[in-house]
Amino acid sequence: MKIPVIIDTDPGIDDALALFLAFSSEKLDIRAITSVGGNIPLGKTTKNSIDLVSYIGANTKVAKGAEGPILRELHTAEYVHGETGLHSVVLPEGNIKLYEKSAWDTIYEEAIKCEGRLNIIAIGPLTNIAIALMKYPDLKHKIEKITLMGGACYIGNTTPAAEFNIYVDAEAADIVFKSGIPVIMVGLDATHKALVLEKDIEYITEGKSKISETIRQFFNCCSIICKLYGLEGAIVHDALAVASVINPNIIEKHKYYVAVETKGELTYGKTVVDIYNVTKKEANAEVAMDVDREGFVEMLRGMIKAYE
Ligand code: BDR
Ligand code: CA
Repeated sequence: MKIPVIIDTDPGIDDALALFLAFSSEKLDIRAITSVGGNIPLGKTTKNSIDLVSYIGANTKVAKGAEGPILRELHTAEYVHGETGLHSVVLPEGNIKLYEKSAWDTIYEEAIKCEGRLNIIAIGPLTNIAIALMKYPDLKHKIEKITLMGGACYIGNTTPAAEFNIYVDAEAADIVFKSGIPVIMVGLDATHKALVLEKDIEYITEGKSKISETIRQFFNCCSIICKLYGLEGAIVHDALAVASVINPNIIEKHKYYVAVETKGELTYGKTVVDIYNVTKKEANAEVAMDVDREGFVEMLRGMIKAYE
């Protein structure tokens, strides 16, 4: 039986690759894509979601979510993803009509329909999920699992302490980690170990189809960004979160208690992971700490084949 999923996203070049991967998989039943303000403002993340779903040839609902965080101003990342959010990649204008319900109402609607089996893959700031949980208090009993790209035990990429998706809306992340829903945290500890090397990009995109060319362009954009951080290859954070739902063995995870810092002047948005259980609190998340990098590369190669 396929896994029913909603992908909550702010495309974003690695979000784009995550969507290509998700739609290539026979294991996932993608019930909706929900957009959120994050890497770029909501108007653009929604347009990119529509353009990507249309380009892939899917007919999946796209529902619009929150413009910005629950309490704060939106912090965007054009310096990474470019003004459009898709860096230098230009896609044809999509032809899917925006779904009439909001992201949070769509999440609730699908949760009811899926009778407890719905999985959420959240690859942007967690604002939509937090709003859904606040608006529908019974929702937490109706979601099987939330796999999120966000956070880290040891490093930050937006401040020295915080990863982007958690930093943008730490209050929302706090709500999600405290919700009681099983959380799989695919953070920087794992995504940085899933570096896709230049030779891997050649291997993954060696076919000559139109889609392999587009996917190659997205990888190349990720490589250009990684070079700015002194890394050779492409880190495709969001695609790893999707990969871990398709095949849980792609990541090695540990059960930890995770709290989100919402007050600190220097540490706002840090995921504070209690690796040694010094707080004696019960684990509320499974945290990805390692990766089957070769397995991930093979999965990405399989993604292209699925579109040929
Ligand atoms: C995360 O931040 C965004 O810029 C990426 O799309 C990814 O979701 C990585 O920190
Ligand atoms: Ca993202």
